[in-house]
Amino acid sequence: MNGNTNMSSNRVEEISEKDFWNFVGNFDTSFQSLDQYEKWKQELSILRDGWIRKSERLALLGAKTNGKLIGIMRILRVSFSERKSWGFNENEKERGEIQDIYLKSSGCLKLMIDKAEKIMYKNGLSTFAISDWRNWDLLKDLGFGIYSRSVLLHWDTTAQISGGNKAVEINFGTKKDVLEEIQKSSWGFFVSPVFKKQDIVLALLKGEPVGCAYLNRFSGNIDYGVHVKKEHQRRGIGTSILKSALDYYRKRNFKRMFVIRNFRSITKVNESDRVALKFYIGCGGDVLREYRGFRMKRQSRKIRAPDIGEYIGG
Ligand SMILES: CC(C)(COP(=O)(O)OP(=O)(O)OC[C@H]1O[C@@H](n2cnc3c(N)ncnc32)[C@H](O)[C@@H]1OP(=O)(O)O)[C@@H](O)C(=O)NCCC(=O)NCCS
Repeated sequence: MNGNTNMSSNRVEEISEKDFWNFVGNFDTSFQSLDQYEKWKQELSILRDGWIRKSERLALLGAKTNGKLIGIMRILRVSFSERKSWGFNENEKERGEIQDIYLKSSGCLKLMIDKAEKIMYKNGLSTFAISDWRNWDLLKDLGFGIYSRSVLLHWDTTAQISGGNKAVEINFGTKKDVLEEIQKSSWGFFVSPVFKKQDIVLALLKGEPVGCAYLNRFSGNIDYGVHVKKEHQRRGIGTSILKSALDYYRKRNFKRMFVIRNFRSITKVNESDRVALKFYIGCGGDVLREYRGFRMKRQSRKIRAPDIGEYIGG
């Protein structure tokens, strides 16, 4: 990337969907169209974590030098559901969000963020965050601090997952209390399924429900990941569930299956994050993107976020 672009010749303006998507194509062919990408993200928003929440697009911005695009970003309005106060007006229900920053020249990033801030302000939003999976060092240099991390993994549905537990019986559909018992054992709390959006995979061992997953019929995502009761972990049950999930999506003509792990800790390798990543990657999942959430904040000390390799090594 060239960081020495002459700033005085740069302009930042709203651009068309066509120009935006053509520019994305220089970097990333993970999604077929802007429409498909935005619909997929809206379907993920059932999870409501960091970069994944219902949004309204305010603008597509482009930075141009001598009329040629050198950088782009998407500007959104999202609900403000962060747990900790960000030091702004406590009553604010919404905030801005910048996503999908692609740059041919790093020099235009500050100018683009300044313009984005004006657009958000005009739309009544006085604070914002940036979710990004490419430009972490540039954002840090501009004074943004990291506040969340999550990893998006994917599988090609033509692939096969090996292993699993032959004694496991897989059923589709069950009652809430069965799921509650599994999740309270696997990660200590319960997230209710949304039956109109998710199909439930239930793993049984000698008739006992031991594991589950919520398969989102619209996004191809395993919402909240795979869960196995503590006392039954490490016996191939999670692998059997993942196999069934991949079969399920293959039969429904999905090209890919996704899962998202929202990290518990930013600065330390948390044990449950480590186990989850080891499990998914061990079962053939690839890290498509690691999203880091940034916001403007004074950070008295430099934060070091361990690389994914530090979770899965050893
Ligand atoms: C992640 C989870 C679903 C794995 O289920 P499981 O039935 O124990 O997994 P499996 O026995 O099929 O393990 C398959 C492979 O994953 C990896 N793995 C699983 N658990 C692991 C652990 N504790 N440490 C290291 N690697 C692990 C190993 O490579 C393992 O193969 P191996 O046993 O031959 O070495 C389970 O640990 C769990 O329910 N965790 C809590 C809930 C959670 O956080 N889910 C993810 C939400 S995103």
